[in-house]
Amino acid sequence: MTNILRHPLTLDGRDATQLRGDPITGDRYTSPAFAKAEWDHMWTKIWHVAGRLADIPESGDYLVHDFMHESVICVRQDDGSIRAFYNVCGHRGQRLAANSAFAPDGFRCPYHGWLWGIDGILKDLQDPEDFPQGNPCGKLSLAELTCDTWGGFVWYSLAEKPQPLREYLAPLPDLYSNYPMDTAVLVFGLKIRLNTNWKFATDNFSESYHTRTAHPQVPPWIDQDVDSARHEMYPQGHGRTVQPMRPSLTDRLPDGEPHPFDYILRQWNIDPESYSDFETKAMQGWLDLKAAKKRLWRERGFVHYERMNDEELTDSPHTVIFPNVTLSYLPDNLIFFRTEPHPDDPNKCTFDLWLMAYPVEGMDEVESIMAGPRPLREAEIEVRDFDGGAGVPEIDGQIVYQDMMLAENQQRGMHSRGYRDSYLAAQETRVRFFHEVLNDYLEGRR
Ligand code: FES
Ligand SMILES: [Fe+2]
Repeated sequence: MTNILRHPLTLDGRDATQLRGDPITGDRYTSPAFAKAEWDHMWTKIWHVAGRLADIPESGDYLVHDFMHESVICVRQDDGSIRAFYNVCGHRGQRLAANSAFAPDGFRCPYHGWLWGIDGILKDLQDPEDFPQGNPCGKLSLAELTCDTWGGFVWYSLAEKPQPLREYLAPLPDLYSNYPMDTAVLVFGLKIRLNTNWKFATDNFSESYHTRTAHPQVPPWIDQDVDSARHEMYPQGHGRTVQPMRPSLTDRLPDGEPHPFDYILRQWNIDPESYSDFETKAMQGWLDLKAAKKRLWRERGFVHYERMNDEELTDSPHTVIFPNVTLSYLPDNLIFFRTEPHPDDPNKCTFDLWLMAYPVEGMDEVESIMAGPRPLREAEIEVRDFDGGAGVPEIDGQIVYQDMMLAENQQRGMHSRGYRDSYLAAQETRVRFFHEVLNDYLEGRR
């Protein structure tokens, strides 16, 4: 059917017999002690996304990433590399930088004015001779962290000696080498404060079983029939669901209602009326769409298709990176979702939504999934309260909005004495897998 080979690290994401069966109890979502254990044994070991490479093109450009009570600066060096430092002054501990910005001369501390170079070394201070222990200029350095890049993102780890990023992410860098991820432009971005535990999003993005109920607009567009999907999980804790972007055969729109698949076929010069019936249109139309994209991408300016294979041109690998990042790969869009815990309250998190689109030659506007047509240029990320949905009207009724509407009531359920463990379908195996990998960290097995 396609030219896709299973990566050798792939485990069947629909086979729960590979799991221990650890219970997914409510306290994991509500207990401050559990959140503390996550910080001590997991968040301080894994890799975090500080931000996007596109935001720090020049030497002196830097990202600030606040996480729990910690804050990290990732700054572009003169030689083009990126280094990460704790955002804390080596004099008496003041936070150095509030927001991502540009500081070609380095970071001037707002307290006593010490100036730290972008290489982390102290390069100026008042009264340098007043230090009986010696002038620290040129000697003291900010505390440094390990930093690396992949997929157009800047990553860092709080661990002393982290596993190398590509090993940590395996096999995702292999799986997604055909997508020019670092060319994607962020056309819409929000950071949303949400009243739920951060794990809601990873649970939620690890299964598509909720899609028919929660997202009724999706089945005519991405096939939700359980046997059409490929469920994969990988030893490092990541996983994905690959679904064909064609109508599910069991979901029909009422006769006469405009069908989103017809619209997509027409975009690629295929007449939806040329098929004898709905099944043929869904199945043969999907194959014809692959062929049309392969024939027409260059003349249409879809340069990001250049290396994509048959599956990537028309399918949707929805990918969870342990523990808190989800990347949704679509032929023309790349969507980044992430939740991060509130520093003190396990009932709260922030939800990052970055809608990115690949540039198409000759187009200055792109169609973005969930935010509609957007100018093809880097957008500012806004911070909002979800506020029961009222805080994010631009995405009212969209997939991620529907998920967030469920998130806060899910959190209420986690507090109930009536909830003891999940009772999972095979297609939800990755939900428990996620919790078992988390337990591996908390219990010292990773
Ligand atoms: S704390 Fe930064 S200069 Fe004093
Ligand atoms: Fe969802």
